[in-house]
Amino acid sequence: MTVILNSAAPKQHNEFPQNTQVAVDIVLDTAYQGIDEAAWKKLFAKARKANVTGFIADMFAGKRLNASENRPVLHSALRNLSKTSVEIDGQDVMPAITEVWRRIEALCNKWIGITDVIHIGIGGSDFGPRLAIEALAHVPSIDSRLMRMHFLANIDTAELARILARAQPHSTRVIIVSKSFTTLETTMNAKAVVNWLKENNCSKAQISRALFAVTTNVAAAKEFGVEENNIYPFWDWVGGRYSVWSAVGLPIALQYGFDTFMDFLAGAHAMDLHFKNTELENNLPVLMALTLLHQQEQHDIKSFAVIPYADALDWFPRWLQQLDMESNGKGVNRDGQPVKFSSPVVFGSSGSNAQHSYFQLLHQGPEVIPIDFIAVRKAMSELPEAQAHHRILLSNCLAQAQALAHGKEADKPNDCYPGSRPSNLLLLPELNAFYLGALLALYEHRTTVLGVLWNINSFDQPGVELGKVLAKPIEKALASHANNIEASTEIDAVTAARINFLNT
Ligand code: F6P
Repeated sequence: MTVILNSAAPKQHNEFPQNTQVAVDIVLDTAYQGIDEAAWKKLFAKARKANVTGFIADMFAGKRLNASENRPVLHSALRNLSKTSVEIDGQDVMPAITEVWRRIEALCNKWIGITDVIHIGIGGSDFGPRLAIEALAHVPSIDSRLMRMHFLANIDTAELARILARAQPHSTRVIIVSKSFTTLETTMNAKAVVNWLKENNCSKAQISRALFAVTTNVAAAKEFGVEENNIYPFWDWVGGRYSVWSAVGLPIALQYGFDTFMDFLAGAHAMDLHFKNTELENNLPVLMALTLLHQQEQHDIKSFAVIPYADALDWFPRWLQQLDMESNGKGVNRDGQPVKFSSPVVFGSSGSNAQHSYFQLLHQGPEVIPIDFIAVRKAMSELPEAQAHHRILLSNCLAQAQALAHGKEADKPNDCYPGSRPSNLLLLPELNAFYLGALLALYEHRTTVLGVLWNINSFDQPGVELGKVLAKPIEKALASHANNIEASTEIDAVTAARINFLNT
């Protein structure tokens, strides 16, 4: 072996975090980051200088940290099972949150005879529940009702057509999920599904029974035709990508039961308490953020990979892409100055499949790409083969991390592995609702800490607007069917030519 990143034997928990730390039973092992004691000290000094501790306290205290939108950042209140009061401008938000929990439980109890649920939402109104439904499907003790949960996000009608071909209209429920209730993909898909109900002879009364909404814009949901009793509110102090803990997570409760939804919240709440109450040196989200900062400073890294060795977490990288890149993919900091660092490109997929795809580049490509490996101690099924398969899954995960860290010398350049490729290992005891909640909250907080270290507001997303604005005149031009569109202030020459080509 040529390069040894960090050969120190793992230390005891709660010692200097050179290697392993545990929170909510989740083990973080940073041994392959190659960060020695002196480097950790410098990193903690940076965290102190950036006032990470003060930011965490302010966030839980409901300060308006989303400065550009003048909003608090309180998704943690949505899972505050301790029910301690959380105030915004002197008003406790917990009664409104517990009322939504009560309504979700009541809905679960009367959710009988439903064959299909169509959950319509996109981005933060889609990834979280979609990931949770997939991630928990393997848990044998979960009472999964015999109900199909369909997720409809894309404006492309391929997804819509696939769902409508399978759903039974008279026993379908439709949940329209949109923080703003103005997102075009969501409102157009919702209209299409309502039309499908009508075409299938559902009466007015049946349609109004079938429609549900989850939104901060209750007026718009009513205007759309959703009955007030079927609207589950959430609030503008919850970012869309942080909203799965609100009624946006309704599919989890409906599919797997209210108790499972509560377990999911409980795991996240346990991670919140860890994040809020633990000093920087033992704080998992802080440690994870600092490992990334270290690699940025050492290697100017531009990409970051997350590889869950759990097929059930295949949606996790896509969820994390929005969380990280929409939160921290910014060119200017909180003071309007150009940033030195912001979010790397996040990519990944479940292992071991990923090994047969882009791991070649991770091992021998010219760029250093830090990786978070996520592994689960307990096998994912009770099949006779489960233990043998799981051992191979875990051994592949450990082997990849080791190979990336140490590399290999060889006579031919082609056979050399440079090594010194850093990675974290996160080890979950098992993949159930509780640990899934804890895992997602861990990454949410990691994203927040990175935002603080980079002095970025992680809670707005102004960069998504321009494309939406430009799409409007382009759509109008496409609808005109004209093939002589000329360049204008709204449509440039390249795009005009493309429209003309499409319209020909
Ligand atoms: O366009 C990006 C975005 O605003 C995301 O931030 C959000 O998660 C998604 O669109 C959906 O928004 P909404 O929940 O308001 O429909």
